[in-house]
Amino acid sequence: MTPPRNCTFPATDWTVLARCWHAVALSADVTATAPFAARLLDQDLVLYRTATGLTVAADLCVHRGAPLSLGCMQEGAIACAYHGYRYDGTGRCTLIPAHPNAPIPGKLALRVFPARERHGLVWVSLDPGAQPDTVPDFPEHVDPAFQIVTVPPFDWDASAGRQVESFCDVAHFTFVHPTTFAASDPVVPRYEVEATPRGVRAEFASRVGNVSDPAAAQQTWRRIYQLHLPFTAHLSVDFPAGGRLVVFNAACPVSARRTRVFAVVARNFDRDQPVADLIAFQQKVYAEDQRIVERQNPEDLPIDLGEEVHVKADRTSVEYRRQLARLGLGRGFTA
Ligand code: FES
Ligand SMILES: [Fe+2]
Repeated sequence: MTPPRNCTFPATDWTVLARCWHAVALSADVTATAPFAARLLDQDLVLYRTATGLTVAADLCVHRGAPLSLGCMQEGAIACAYHGYRYDGTGRCTLIPAHPNAPIPGKLALRVFPARERHGLVWVSLDPGAQPDTVPDFPEHVDPAFQIVTVPPFDWDASAGRQVESFCDVAHFTFVHPTTFAASDPVVPRYEVEATPRGVRAEFASRVGNVSDPAAAQQTWRRIYQLHLPFTAHLSVDFPAGGRLVVFNAACPVSARRTRVFAVVARNFDRDQPVADLIAFQQKVYAEDQRIVERQNPEDLPIDLGEEVHVKADRTSVEYRRQLARLGLGRGFTA
């Protein structure tokens, strides 16, 4: 595992993050008809499908370095746009058009990365030895009681750590989300936070402001945050009437300063309501956060707890930063 050219992460942090699984694309965006480009940890990737399934490889033709994502799919292989070399689902070259009958050098093979599809997302690790069972869980995604709504992926000019921390912050609702869901009371009651084998779990009860029923506005809505290191968070909100809304937030560290967010929503109520309204609401909430998070300084999440100031309301983010430190991210992560 070698950091790519022009890597924006300190090499030690890149190596830690490269071992983890990250969502890089919607499964639906990767087809058998055209290659799909993505970037993870500054590594350019090409995603394609053949008869043997999904392939994720470095977006680089080993002949003369052209990006394979400029190419096309031909007869079940990916074909380079420059000299037409074809590569199969294992990354092996199967055709050199200039010499179709000559033996193909074994070195003509793409760098293929471990990939898995779960929750409608393509997950990739840059570590050839990555364990597949460590992709984050999202049980509602396969529960027939839930309707699944995928928000179109969007990019923020911010680090993945800052994005995920904002998603799990319980003290900003009144100030950042007054027009979407926040109640007017900014007080954060004591709430429970615990370390889990994969990250952090926090349970919080809040009031919300986007309900017309005054009785419902007085009730508390249970919110459970489950953070899966390094950059995925599963939020379930239990409504007083029994409904549950889940927002699964997988932040892809495109670079140290750019994050692609995959947000998948599950709900077991209002299933007859237009999904466009739900998507528009989520986009509005995220846009409210984006305005702040893209302007935070330093851009990276300071995991040294001495660097920013913490109060009781910040217990989730304090534990998140501790866990990122345990994962092996160093002071360099604070840039
Ligand atoms: S660079 Fe891809 S075939 Fe030559
Ligand atoms: Fe927010």
